[in-house]
Amino acid sequence: MARLVVKGGRPLEGKVAVRGAKNSALPLLAASILAGEAVTLHRIPRLDDIAVMLDILRSLGLGVATETSPYGLTVHIVPGLTDYRVPAPLTRRMRSSILVMGALLAKGGQVRIAYPGGCVIGSRPIDLHLNGLRKLGAQVTEEGGTITAAAPRLRGAHIHLDVPSVGATENLMMAAVLAQGATVIGNAAREPEIVDLQIFLNRLGARVRGAGTGTIRIDGVERLGGGRHEVIPDRIEAATYMVAAAISRGDVEITGVIPQHLDAVTAKLREVGVTVTTGDHWVRVRCPRRPRAVDLTTLPYPGYPTDAQNQFLALMCTAEGTSVINETIYEQRLKIAGELRKMGARIHTDGRVAVVRGVPSLTGAPVQASDDLRGAASLVLAGLGAQGTTVVEGAQFIDRGYQDFEGVLKKLGAEVYRLKPEKVDSLSNPGTARHPGAG
Ligand code: EPU
Repeated sequence: MARLVVKGGRPLEGKVAVRGAKNSALPLLAASILAGEAVTLHRIPRLDDIAVMLDILRSLGLGVATETSPYGLTVHIVPGLTDYRVPAPLTRRMRSSILVMGALLAKGGQVRIAYPGGCVIGSRPIDLHLNGLRKLGAQVTEEGGTITAAAPRLRGAHIHLDVPSVGATENLMMAAVLAQGATVIGNAAREPEIVDLQIFLNRLGARVRGAGTGTIRIDGVERLGGGRHEVIPDRIEAATYMVAAAISRGDVEITGVIPQHLDAVTAKLREVGVTVTTGDHWVRVRCPRRPRAVDLTTLPYPGYPTDAQNQFLALMCTAEGTSVINETIYEQRLKIAGELRKMGARIHTDGRVAVVRGVPSLTGAPVQASDDLRGAASLVLAGLGAQGTTVVEGAQFIDRGYQDFEGVLKKLGAEVYRLKPEKVDSLSNPGTARHPGAG
């Protein structure tokens, strides 16, 4: 367990550049399995989830080399599929391991994979992935927690998703690119990460169109080549720093973003009275005073993202008035309410709905992050806006999705530092604990 110590009350100020999007990098890495020649991906964020995906690719026989650049990792991948079995210890560490299914089936004709783990935010079934693959002609069996699927060659089909699942859309796109004939995915997810995947696949020689709309058409081709691609900026990382600026009553410019991807977050922040200005590749967030309470409902893109809901919930704790937060994507994504209450928040939850009565200020407290990286990061945000010291236990969850989170916040003027597991004994007095970067 890692702990983050946050001393609140300092307005964040300055500039921060966002990294490549985790939720784009993961499917792009999975899609590299399909390539017939070498692939290079730029701006891959350095995260625990990415490390798991790279290990999965290596375990399947692909050649993987990484280089560090100022914009994240550059990853070179050389084809060489030798295995179709995804090691269970890796699968259990991350939900997105399921994304290799479609590509493995398409390229190697078979796949064996354990049920995936990942953030504990709800039941997170994979029925849409498996039913879609069945529609494409795969024989899928589920036994003892392991899924096996096989098909000599997948066949194009018309697939309508019950809900616009991001992962199922991506998995089925990857499965369909080498299938015989055309595939149409109806009620497809419209997230920017889906568009990024389409661009990458087409760069390799696939024929995919419609990403970003509810209908995606894939005309199967015989083989894919190789190519280079740069991952889109992480809109959720950007949203998190936007809320960090607002919650600390600061003034922060977030650079290297695609502002349109942030429209829903920008609109909500403006609604609560935060000043958001945008340029070609940046957004600036200023919040000199207490925000006012507004209601929020999470929705698939282009609605307000669930992955930025906990951050907004933390912001609403000190808003003027009462807000109602409705989480429609995951049944367990209001878990941090209990921890925020320890900091003085007045939140009542009922299932997927939270009613937040704003208080003038939160008070620092020891809080426990659970296995949801967004919740963990949001507790740190709450600490930034609180009076006194907050100690967030379980801060290692943040490393799944944020590269050097506390380093970025520190650069913006926050007083935050990490107590590594071996330093935990000195926690009884966080004020005197050695700063990890202090030598
Ligand atoms: N769903 C099903 N059946 C399925 C698949 C999904 O019922 O077969 C349901 C889920 O239970 C959920 C909804 O559909 O209620 C949406 O799930 P989706 O499949 O869209 O999510 P995902 O692909 O597993 C990605 C992100 C998540 C993000 C969601 C929603 C990646 C790697 N993960 O997950 O990111 O919350 O889309 O936008 O892209 C995060 O980064 O913190 C994170 C959890």
